[in-house]
Amino acid sequence: MASVHLNSVGKTYPGGTRAVDDCSLSVEDGEFLVLVGPSGCGKSTMLRMVAGLETITDGTISIGGNVVNSVQPKDRDIAMVFQNYALYPHMTARKNMEFALKIRKIPRDQRRARVEEVAGQLGISELLDRKPAAMSGGQQQRVALGRAIVREPQVFLFDEPLSNLDAKLRTQMRAELKTLHRRVGTTSIYVTHDQEEAMTLGDRVVVMHEGRIQQVGSPMEVYEHPANRFVATFIGAPTMNILEGSLETRGGRTVFSGNGLEVDLDAPPAGMNGGSVCLGIRPEHLALSEQGTIELDVEVSEPLGDMTDVAGRCGDVQLVARLRRINPPSPGDRVRLVIEPGAACCFDAASGNRLD
Ligand SMILES: Nc1ncnc2c1ncn2[C@@H]1O[C@H](COP(=O)(O)OP(=O)(O)OP(=O)(O)O)[C@@H](O)[C@H]1O
Ligand SMILES: [Mg+2]
Repeated sequence: MASVHLNSVGKTYPGGTRAVDDCSLSVEDGEFLVLVGPSGCGKSTMLRMVAGLETITDGTISIGGNVVNSVQPKDRDIAMVFQNYALYPHMTARKNMEFALKIRKIPRDQRRARVEEVAGQLGISELLDRKPAAMSGGQQQRVALGRAIVREPQVFLFDEPLSNLDAKLRTQMRAELKTLHRRVGTTSIYVTHDQEEAMTLGDRVVVMHEGRIQQVGSPMEVYEHPANRFVATFIGAPTMNILEGSLETRGGRTVFSGNGLEVDLDAPPAGMNGGSVCLGIRPEHLALSEQGTIELDVEVSEPLGDMTDVAGRCGDVQLVARLRRINPPSPGDRVRLVIEPGAACCFDAASGNRLD
């Protein structure tokens, strides 16, 4: 096992696309780190540079304390699992899993034993003599995982390994990956565009946007203290509501006004500068109240059992509220809402950076 360090890493592709820019990051030994961000933000490029499948334009990458910028992929002691499994179609599951061990000239008996052991852990012992074409997507992905695990690399790299699976299987495999990581403890970097997957899998999460790291933190840190508007709206579902306006102090109170709304805040944000701000409110931080100054004209009401997502117009914006234990309102109803104390966050309108 090993730590991985990126120091001011950048990548410009031939043709000029700046895919990754000035990214510095330390992945601790044994950590499960998730890179998350929208399509095209540079996640795969970053991972492929760690793997050595892509050259590095600027900065350095080190694995286990050694700079690997010019080390061949095969000499980096990493194993990568891709979205499309990338199994050899003409080989059985066993041969696929054995292949890397064979190249390393591990004796046949040891190879066999190791493959059987890992196949047992992954629940694919019965599949070992089948070729990929005779397996389901989920089974193929298990074999691809098995092929990475048998090698006992210093670092696992995963590029959206579950995104070809159906929702149920994805959730199941996610739990299995977590258990597996707990057991083997290998340093892992996992790429996904799915914020829920990032939140549930990562010891820490790295949110990327347009080639740059926006924030690094535990799942709860990035959820509760997003560094900027991008992170705030990317993490969390339904998406955080954003109102645009300004803050003023009236008789000791801090009032946000904008989008045809006036909202009392408990305290002025520390970085308040009197300029334009964006007010961020998570749907679950809105609650029904007779005294509420936020009047929502309900357009869509989605009961989810213990809670109901209510969407509609308020002032001149759309808002979503996630309300607990209520009789779901109907379209056309008007509900009054308050923001739970201390739950709103403020972002500078120009930079998007969090003010409080
Ligand atoms: N081989 C390449 N040549 C030129 N540009 C590339 C190449 N590979 C990726 N890019 C560009 O670099 C940027 C980052 O791509 P990358 O594949 O790293 O994104 P990603 O975050 O993995 O996206 P996705 O979630 O869609 O997989 C994109 O603008 C993409 O078009
Ligand atoms: Mg990608």
